[in-house]
Amino acid sequence: LIPRLSDLISNPPSFNQSLRVRGWVNKTRKHKKTSFINISDGSLSLWVQIVVDNDLVDPDLLKNLKIGCSIEVEGYLEDPNSENSFNSKIENTSIVCSKNGVGLIGSVDNDYPLANFRLLNDYIRSLPTLKHRTGRVASLFRLRSALDYRLHEFFQKENFIKTNPPLITTSNCEGGSEIFQIEKTLDAKPKLSHFFKDDSYLTVSTQLHLEALSMGLGNVWTFSPSFRAEESDTRRHLSEFWMLEAEMAFITDVRQLTDFCEKMLKYLARTIVENKTDQFMILDDLFGDHSRRTDEEKESALAAINKVHSLEKFPVVTYTQAIKILENSSEDFKFGKPQWGDDLKSEHEKYLCEKVYDSPVFVINYPKKLKPFYMSVNSDNNTVACFDLLVPGVGEIIGGSIREENYDLLKAEITRRKMKAKDLEWYLDLRRFGSVPHGGFGLGFDRLIRYFGAAGNIRDVIPFPRVQGKCPA
Ligand code: 4AD
Ligand code: MG
Repeated sequence: LIPRLSDLISNPPSFNQSLRVRGWVNKTRKHKKTSFINISDGSLSLWVQIVVDNDLVDPDLLKNLKIGCSIEVEGYLEDPNSENSFNSKIENTSIVCSKNGVGLIGSVDNDYPLANFRLLNDYIRSLPTLKHRTGRVASLFRLRSALDYRLHEFFQKENFIKTNPPLITTSNCEGGSEIFQIEKTLDAKPKLSHFFKDDSYLTVSTQLHLEALSMGLGNVWTFSPSFRAEESDTRRHLSEFWMLEAEMAFITDVRQLTDFCEKMLKYLARTIVENKTDQFMILDDLFGDHSRRTDEEKESALAAINKVHSLEKFPVVTYTQAIKILENSSEDFKFGKPQWGDDLKSEHEKYLCEKVYDSPVFVINYPKKLKPFYMSVNSDNNTVACFDLLVPGVGEIIGGSIREENYDLLKAEITRRKMKAKDLEWYLDLRRFGSVPHGGFGLGFDRLIRYFGAAGNIRDVIPFPRVQGKCPA
């Protein structure tokens, strides 16, 4: 079996032992006697340097090696302490190529869109099939992978059951119009809609089903795509995004939810702070060194992670307090100052967490009329037991609430909002069969990557982003 480049580091063969490796060319430097080819295979966020004696390989082949080509190399691992070592501080792993030891696997046509200099983010964004070949996007995808793994680890440790609610549904959890309907059609082509006799949708949130699963399994969670037909062309909205949702039985207070979310984020931050390999892998990808992360971006990412790690307690304010803070501020908001009852716009959210607190902040107890039907109403009868977590640079990344557990109250709210009660009968039934106080939340995973990765645009943290009007590849 041909080793991956990471194996050379984790399980190094003895020096001078013959070996073969494969990878994509990242950079070539040709000198009079010797050429250097940097290759990567994705297993490392570093390249490995191939040292070639120009006289020992086909000169044409060498000449045609360009960034993006895939090659196979035969040679031996060089002892970095040997007298003639080619290793420098950065290239700490070199493979000295044997005679005729370079073979081309796949060449690169002249119109290859990536090049060996810094490319603009907008340009890279226009190349969904290739963007992860740049160091910046590769490092964001590594961060995504690391946090995905750590979230599973966290929920396993917390003794939650991971479950899989459906993504095709007949209910509209959030009650908004931003929902993709699976059209009922008489068209002869086989369409999804033919399978269901009821109106169905791509889920905007699995919460309602998760609540059903929680009644019996206790604490449950899921991690899956959600779909929203949002018209906003912004840096924080996707039409298909990944949401982590959790639901907990027998909790009564929104502060139990905020404490839990805080613990979850701190756990993630700690794993990165304490694991230097993780940190290195995800902060900077040296492959594709033409478009690596900027120092500024790396510093902001580390600052965000360190902030969450070191903060004693995330601040918590009520919506009513937040409105007062915004009313008293001297900030010149584009959309003006919100009044009690108005939804917070992105600029208001950012002002609160960036200018007022300079940290993540929980805003709790929003007005009832701003939130969906299922939230438990507070004793003031005006606000609901809910929270949003706002973070610097992004705004809202989590939304959650205590759910109304009482059948009559929930039914009355469904009627008041003129929702189709028949579609929600199964959900209401949960309140007749051993109902218990419960609550949960949804974390926008792509927004979390934006926050911890200090990425300015949500489209950079997900492969093949789906946004309004754009579904490339
Ligand atoms: O605040 P939201 O709408 O809450 C719910 O859907 C609840 N039912 C979740 C629950 O309690 N189980 O969405 C939750 C989070 C938001 O805070 C945001 O981070 C993310 O999902 N989100 C989006 N992320 C990217 N693109 C979009 N269009 C998003 N819409 C929501
Ligand atoms: Mg929300």
